[in-house]
Amino acid sequence: MEAQTSGTTYALITGASAGIGRELARVHAARGGNCVLVARRGDALRALKHELETAHHVRVHVIEADLAHTDAAERIVEELHREDIAIDILINNAAFGSYGPFHTADLDRNTDMIAVNVTALVQLTRLVLPQMVMRGRGRILNIASTAAFLPGPTMSVYYASKAFVLHFSEAIADDLRNTGVTVTALCPGPTESEFADVANVRKSAAFQRLPVPSSRDVAEYGYRAMVRGKRVAIHGVLNALTARMVAFVPRGLVLRVVRMIQQSA
Ligand SMILES: NC(=O)c1ccc[n+]([C@@H]2O[C@H](COP(=O)([O-])OP(=O)(O)OC[C@H]3O[C@@H](n4cnc5c(N)ncnc54)[C@H](OP(=O)(O)O)[C@@H]3O)[C@@H](O)[C@H]2O)c1
Repeated sequence: MEAQTSGTTYALITGASAGIGRELARVHAARGGNCVLVARRGDALRALKHELETAHHVRVHVIEADLAHTDAAERIVEELHREDIAIDILINNAAFGSYGPFHTADLDRNTDMIAVNVTALVQLTRLVLPQMVMRGRGRILNIASTAAFLPGPTMSVYYASKAFVLHFSEAIADDLRNTGVTVTALCPGPTESEFADVANVRKSAAFQRLPVPSSRDVAEYGYRAMVRGKRVAIHGVLNALTARMVAFVPRGLVLRVVRMIQQSA
């Protein structure tokens, strides 16, 4: 079912129970925007709903959902329809990574990673877009990563999933030109959130040796880029430089450096 509502407009934010997603919800609500918050941890979402409604007098709707389930996106859009909630901003933020060489990795965990990082993002985008195009306005913010520009030994599926998000976002941004709907791929580098613990990379050189900005900084930067309709937004000067220069560096060296920064410092 595609979203076909005419009611009050909201930003739908996946992965709003922690990290960058929670900060994006705070940034949006502070501007007076209503939110639909999606994640598995209902308690965290309900606490955020209470905080945002009290502080900013906006409407917040909570949907507890596991985006690894193949019918999650359909179920979310059905609920929006029942509640007469229209989405004018879609923020596909939920994702996770996992450290370890691919040949010993847990296959179910990697399959779930593709479902959350890629499949749910594609499905939600496809289900929400027609109504935005019909209204002639809308914003989509897909959270990719600086990993999108690199092959990622020891986190191969995660890095590849982010390359998908980046290329998918740029391509549909082009499909959508002249529709009033824009698509932004936000590419943060290592950022303070629960991500490093979930992926088991807290002790990596990437998190120990490189500057690690707060989720708030990244969310504010990404939100501004989305409002402006920027297609690719790389957070941080060093990250932007690295992303642009990587194409000129021999691939063997790129692989060695990425492996090194993923390992314990
Ligand atoms: N932190 C970094 O270093 C970094 C760098 C580059 C890009 N990113 C990207 O930034 C985005 C946000 O990550 P973060 O750093 O804020 O990580 P985080 O603190 O771990 O937050 C991840 C969010 O995704 C949700 N999520 C995970 N699995 C889910 C599932 N199966 N179903 C529904 N929701 C799920 C989590 O909620 P529940 O656990 O409640 O479900 C949580 O709200 C991700 O796309 C990540 O890839 C992060």
